[in-house]
Amino acid sequence: MSSTRRRFLKTGLLAGSTLVASGCNTEVSVTQEEATIGQPLKILVLGGTGFIGPHMVREALRRGHQVELFNRGRTNNVLFPDLKLHKGDRDNDLRSLEDGSWDAVIDNSGYVPRHVENSARLLSSAVSHYLYISTVSVYGDVSGPVVNEDTAVGTLDDESVEEVTGETYGPLKALCEQRVFSEIGTERTTILRPTYICGPGDRTDRYTYWPARTLLGGEMLWPGTPDDDIQIIDVRDLANFTVDCLEQQIKGIFNTVTPPLSFRMGDLLHDCQKVIANDMSPTWVSTEFLTEQKVGLPIWEDPKGEMAILNRVDGSRALAAGLRNRPTLETARDTVAWWKTLPAERTSIFNAGLTLAREDELLRIWHDLNAAA
Ligand SMILES: NC(=O)c1ccc[n+]([C@@H]2O[C@H](COP(=O)([O-])OP(=O)(O)OC[C@H]3O[C@@H](n4cnc5c(N)ncnc54)[C@H](OP(=O)(O)O)[C@@H]3O)[C@@H](O)[C@H]2O)c1
Repeated sequence: MSSTRRRFLKTGLLAGSTLVASGCNTEVSVTQEEATIGQPLKILVLGGTGFIGPHMVREALRRGHQVELFNRGRTNNVLFPDLKLHKGDRDNDLRSLEDGSWDAVIDNSGYVPRHVENSARLLSSAVSHYLYISTVSVYGDVSGPVVNEDTAVGTLDDESVEEVTGETYGPLKALCEQRVFSEIGTERTTILRPTYICGPGDRTDRYTYWPARTLLGGEMLWPGTPDDDIQIIDVRDLANFTVDCLEQQIKGIFNTVTPPLSFRMGDLLHDCQKVIANDMSPTWVSTEFLTEQKVGLPIWEDPKGEMAILNRVDGSRALAAGLRNRPTLETARDTVAWWKTLPAERTSIFNAGLTLAREDELLRIWHDLNAAA
């Protein structure tokens, strides 16, 4: 642990106070030992009320920093009633940011290069450090044996495109990164490139599908083999590393992932079974079968497919800079605990994965094929 970090963790301005972290129903107690002394930072978060933003806001507050928000006031607008909100729209209204100054900005709501360029240009003289949340989807050429921060990013024929689709998302995020660099400069910029972000509060259900479906019990379809590699990043680990980067002035580009080859579909199954001891019985169906049936499943890739390398992204640079991945069992446990707090109308439909009817149909075809063979 660096001396800066030690200084930050020593004793507290916020001794004994309690921050209620709504959104994932977690209560965060700030103890004497945990809170910040030294130089609390004044941090602006662009998009602090979605999924990842609240975890970052809470972590920064837990360490005693001052946090201000910028957003339109539409998403989870009751989440942080005590924080200063600069109301505005990245698309066309940054006026509420014109007179402020901050030590650092966390930009986690930038998808369109024009938006990111405008905020970075405006904030260039008002912040010391710009941290942009990007994605591993920026990588364009994934044909090599490894994907690291030097791998070429994807490009767009028409860079004026602003519609975010499955195809444009990655190259647009790459352009956003470039806009931050050109407006802020490399020496004041941090770019984090997470893979699937998961944990309490995730609205996509891509990771959540697996433990949430396990909860329902019965026969469950699992894709490929237990050895197929996957990668995730727990949202709390991403939030910790984000605040570390600001406190310790960590600059540069970092993939933020679980270490490659450290987590496989079989480990995910094991985590789900350990957290949820019920009658769920897994049936592994082959990749060929899923391809024939035109079925894709969240966070899993055909290990021989062209995108498989994106489940083996090199994260060693972030690891060396201090990123710590919690045990995946903890992610499963806390995701299940959060999922159980949600209303039935939310949990009755998965935002990713198979419907129960489709899963049932696929399992029936799979068993018929095997019986006939
Ligand atoms: N989920 C993943 O697995 C994953 C993986 C890799 C990277 N990422 C990156 O992580 C970030 C996603 O974070 P998220 O899901 O927490 O947030 P998000 O849904 O993208 O953004 C939500 C936040 O941004 C604000 N916002 C949205 N549109 C706005 C606008 N036009 N002007 C001002 N504020 C606006 C929202 O508040 P208002 O609605 O009130 O404005 C809210 O605070 C993105 O940068 C994404 O590329 C995600």
